[in-house]
Amino acid sequence: MTKPVLVRTAEALDDALRAALPAGAQLFCLADMHTQSLWLPALGAFVKEEDCLLTAPGEGSKSVETSNRLWLELAGRHADRHAVLINLGGGVITDLGGWVASTYKRGIPFIHIPTSLLGMADAAIGGKTALNAGPVKNLIGTLAEARAILIHPPFLRTLPNKEIRSGCAEMLTHGLIWEAAHWEAVTQAMERGAPGTDEVYRSACIKWEIASADPQETGVRKLLNFGHTVGHALEAHFLDTDCAVTHGDAISAGMVVETVLSEHRLQLDPAASENVVARLLHFFPVRECLSVPIDRILGFMAHDKKINAGTQHFSLLQSPGHGVYGVPCTTDEIMRAWHEAIRRISA
Ligand SMILES: NC(=O)c1ccc[n+]([C@@H]2O[C@H](COP(=O)([O-])OP(=O)(O)OC[C@H]3O[C@@H](n4cnc5c(N)ncnc54)[C@H](O)[C@@H]3O)[C@@H](O)[C@H]2O)c1
Repeated sequence: MTKPVLVRTAEALDDALRAALPAGAQLFCLADMHTQSLWLPALGAFVKEEDCLLTAPGEGSKSVETSNRLWLELAGRHADRHAVLINLGGGVITDLGGWVASTYKRGIPFIHIPTSLLGMADAAIGGKTALNAGPVKNLIGTLAEARAILIHPPFLRTLPNKEIRSGCAEMLTHGLIWEAAHWEAVTQAMERGAPGTDEVYRSACIKWEIASADPQETGVRKLLNFGHTVGHALEAHFLDTDCAVTHGDAISAGMVVETVLSEHRLQLDPAASENVVARLLHFFPVRECLSVPIDRILGFMAHDKKINAGTQHFSLLQSPGHGVYGVPCTTDEIMRAWHEAIRRISA
């Protein structure tokens, strides 16, 4: 599995990109309007403005309609089977661009250059590509390896605070399921402001370690779903409303409910559980995210890919730093944890 490479300086980015590109290949870049105007010039030595495919920022671009337009744009520009697509943007761009590249002419090479914290620490790594179908998140996708993944933290200079917070949620997930010291390091960095390069790259490497141990997600990779079963359902709910909730905010609220569920199902120590919930509540708008009717969330969860023979399987916490996957939970148990989480955060 492609390991993310840390490139600290503009010169190192140029060198890494030059090394990753096959000689003589046609080059295209996919960006959204923000990443195009802010950071396409950083790739000026490689990509001409007219070779940039553009899409609107936001989750709405992970659609069959956008994908169809991009396939046709590539065809209209005579992109051949050896053309390379550089995906310059957040998780939306790497999910969408990975999908478009992995399906265009049965697959062309692509390079991820994530520009958001969430993209650098998580979404660009592991080879999952995705589109949403209607309100159902990530219903369509492929497993496809990027030719290179270049992590260049200076891109984060222009990232809005709420997007920094969103990326932090995935970083905290990595710490909670895999490495208690990382959970501590990221919470401390959030207290100071934002995570630094070392924490960002450590998260990227944790994601890579877990995903490369289980590329097809038949085992340990399921750990990464901690917080995501409830979180994706919340995200799907908010996609349908005028209320803009980031991926990370939804996941952090999902982690609160699934931490309480961990207490009920895995005997997570109540003091540790309380500490995790309190810290998530301190950093994220958990109350707002959980002010949704539970029936609606259960309805979205019914679409979840983690349902097996009618039982919902969760990845939960045995202790901070130690996740367990494949824990079967009934609807009653989920509802009990949901109501208990709301009671605790309202107290
Ligand atoms: N494939 C995976 O394994 C995986 C894992 C986690 C999340 N995801 C997906 O990632 C997506 C969320 O990613 P995201 O949070 O990066 O969202 P995003 O791509 O929508 O980016 C968030 C916003 O930040 C802007 N932005 C990005 N980089 C910027 C920069 N450097 N400066 C200023 N603005 C910048 C974007 O234009 C956008 O408006 C979701 O669709 C989620 O499903 C995928």
